[in-house]
Amino acid sequence: MKTSLSALKRSMIFKDQSKLSFDYVPDELPGRAGELDSLGRLFRTVVYEKMGQTALVTGPVGSGKTAVVKRFCDILKDAGIENKRMIDTVHINCRNRKSESMVLLSILTHFDSRFPDRGFSIPEMIEILKKHLKKRECHLVIVLDEADVLLKRSGSDLVYAFTRVQEEDPELLGALSLILISQKSIIQLMDKASLSTFKRTNIIEFGKYDREVLKMIVDQRVELAFHDNVVEDGVSEMIASMSEEYGDARFAIELLEKAGMVSEEKGSDTVTPEHARWAKAEVKPFVFEETIQQLNVHEQIMLLATSRLLKHSAYCSTGELETEYQALCEQINKRPLGHTQFWQYMKEMDAFGLITTKRSGKGTVGNTTLITIQDVPVMELIEFLENNLLS
Ligand SMILES: Nc1ncnc2c1ncn2[C@@H]1O[C@H](COP(=O)(O)OP(=O)(O)O)[C@@H](O)[C@H]1O
Ligand SMILES: [Mg+2]
Repeated sequence: MKTSLSALKRSMIFKDQSKLSFDYVPDELPGRAGELDSLGRLFRTVVYEKMGQTALVTGPVGSGKTAVVKRFCDILKDAGIENKRMIDTVHINCRNRKSESMVLLSILTHFDSRFPDRGFSIPEMIEILKKHLKKRECHLVIVLDEADVLLKRSGSDLVYAFTRVQEEDPELLGALSLILISQKSIIQLMDKASLSTFKRTNIIEFGKYDREVLKMIVDQRVELAFHDNVVEDGVSEMIASMSEEYGDARFAIELLEKAGMVSEEKGSDTVTPEHARWAKAEVKPFVFEETIQQLNVHEQIMLLATSRLLKHSAYCSTGELETEYQALCEQINKRPLGHTQFWQYMKEMDAFGLITTKRSGKGTVGNTTLITIQDVPVMELIEFLENNLLS
C-alpha cells in the first residue's frame, strides 16, 4: 500500500507559493511610486493636522489599486505612530459586502469582533461607530474597495453619511477618512451632496502597466516565490509581453504561477518559456487549427520553422528564421520565397496574431527584429504542422 505521495513532497520549483496569492502585498510595488506619493500628499493633513481626507482611486483590473491602497494604509499607520497620532484603517470589499448595513457591520466588527450581525439599523450603527471613534481617539481610514458595486446597489447615502459624521459632531472633526476604489469613475453614481467632498484633485487614476513594469513585477515574484535559478532566462520577459495587452499584473502573476505548476506536473526542474506558453493556453484557450488551415503553404512552413526555433528559447531572430525556413523548403521541395516577400509574409503573420515580433533592445548587436510565439505551446504547433506539411 502506498504510504507516501510524491505530489506531497516539498516543491523543487516553488520556495513560497503563498507569495503568488492575490492577497499578498509585497513591500515594494514597482511602477507605483508616483501613485503612493499622490496618496501621501493627500493624507499628510491626516497625520499632522487632524483633518479627514477623501480620495477616489480608479483604474483597470489588475492595475494595482487594491495592493497600492493596502500598502499605503500600512505606511500611513506607521507615520501615525511616529507622530503620536493613532491611525486605524479598515479595508472592505463591497463585492462581498453588498449592502450598506453589511459594510457598516464589517467596520463595527473591526472594533468589536463580537458585534451582533443583526438587530441594528443603519443610523444606530453609525452612532455606535461614532462612540468607538470617540472612545479610542483614533483616526479611521475607511477603504471601500469595488465601491461601484455598493453605489450601484444602494446609492451614495452611506458615503454621504460618513462625510457627515465629522460635520455634525465637533468632537469628531478630522476623525474619519474615506478612500473609494473603483474600476471606472463613479462620479456619475454619486449625488451632488457627496460629490462636493470628492473634489477633482482627490481622484488618482491608475493606468495600465506597460511591459517593462510588468516584467519588474514578475521578476519580483520570481525572487519571492521560486527557488533560486529555477525560472529560466526569458520567462519573465515573455510573461510580461503576454500580459502587456491587458496591462494586468494579476494576469501576469497568474501566468507565472501556472507556468510553475506546469513545470512541476511535467517533472521538470526548471520553468521554461514553453511552460509559460502552456500556462497561457490554459488561462486563455486559443483555437488555432482553423486559423492554420487558412494559411498558405509558405506561411505554414514559416510557422513550423518558428516553432522549431522556439522549442528551447523565448525568442528567435529573423535571420535564424529565414535560414530555418529555407532549409524546410528544401526538405519538402518548395522554392523558398525571396527576402522581400519573406518579410512581407512575416509582417502579415504578426498582424494576424500568430507570431509576435519586437525590435531587440540594447545589448544585442545591431537592431534586429525578434520573433516569438505566445499563445500556443510550440510543441502543439510542431505536431500539427508536421502532420500537415511533411506527411
Ligand atoms: N506594482 C505592483 N507590484 C507588485 N505587485 C503588484 C503590483 N500591482 C499589482 N500587483 C499584484 O497584482 C495583483 C493584482 O493587483 P490588484 O491590486 O488586486 O489590482 P486591482 O485592485 O487594480 O484590480 C495582486 O496580486 C497584486 O499584489
Ligand atoms: Mg482590486
